[in-house]
Amino acid sequence: MSKTSPKVELHLHLEGAAPPAFIRGMAREKHADIAGIFDEAGHYSYTDFWHFLKVYDAATSVLRTPEDYHRLTLAVLEESAANGVIYSECFLSPDFCGGRDVSAWRDYLNAIREAAEIAEKRDGITLRAIVTAVRHIGPEAARETALCAAETAGDFLTGFGLAGDEKLHKPKDFAWAFDAAREAGLRLTAHAGEWGGPESVRDALADLKVERIGHGVRAIEDLALVDELAEQGVVLEVCPGSNVALGLYKWREHPIAELDRRGVKVTISTDDPPFFHTTMTREHERLAEAFDWDEGQFLRLHKVAAEAAFCDEATRARILKQLETAA
Ligand code: ADE
Ligand code: ZN
Repeated sequence: MSKTSPKVELHLHLEGAAPPAFIRGMAREKHADIAGIFDEAGHYSYTDFWHFLKVYDAATSVLRTPEDYHRLTLAVLEESAANGVIYSECFLSPDFCGGRDVSAWRDYLNAIREAAEIAEKRDGITLRAIVTAVRHIGPEAARETALCAAETAGDFLTGFGLAGDEKLHKPKDFAWAFDAAREAGLRLTAHAGEWGGPESVRDALADLKVERIGHGVRAIEDLALVDELAEQGVVLEVCPGSNVALGLYKWREHPIAELDRRGVKVTISTDDPPFFHTTMTREHERLAEAFDWDEGQFLRLHKVAAEAAFCDEATRARILKQLETAA
């Protein structure tokens, strides 16, 4: 898969995709001192997942207005499109965008959407948004987040999810928020099976009734669960480079290939690319090296991603056609 081969990405955190230079520029404009989150080379610097979450919050603290998010969206989509991404789904959090106030959130979402429309014309990339509650902010906040999402659900904001520290709270604590989002017509995904074991994947499916799982790779520790995922057609938003960067696996031991062999619907995403020194192009290069995957295999997985995308059927048909035409 070359840099320009068409790709579909389902799991990308908008703030987590912010280039370090972009965040430094914002910090300068706002006279904010966040120098401590970068190493000497100017990359984001953290010691483990929990420190990563803190650095993520610090970087995000310089994004303060809808205009900031407009600029961020343009920068992120330009980079995604340069790596061949034709369709992307981004996680957005009303926690960061207006402090879960519906009216402020609407302004942020409109600014992001306007940027997405510019990028679609400029770079040929289509964006859909997934509101995510942040697990470590807690279930109460998640209810407010779900109400923000429900108020703005539509053809651009199409999904609801859950990210953050998987060790805190249980999926069932967020059931109210997911029920509200489902009732508003939003499609559902949740991070699980990254820092939690197979039971975290089971709980997310049973208690939140999600159709996709963010990561989900630790399902491999329970082969009965793997069979269930395959039978039920649950889609995993796998982010191999993120898992490798955070020390969960080495490339050759990453379970994506085994999950795929066992019939689970796996897809490929970058999660927070500059944090994990990755791009969609690099993910494909590493997977090709590790598992000898060829163009046909990658095309198959991008079709799985297109089929699982939280978008309308006309958009899905267009993306599938773009994938076919390039093959
Ligand atoms: N927020 C941003 N990236 C994340 C990840 N990989 N897991 C959980 N929460 C996140
Ligand atoms: Zn993620």
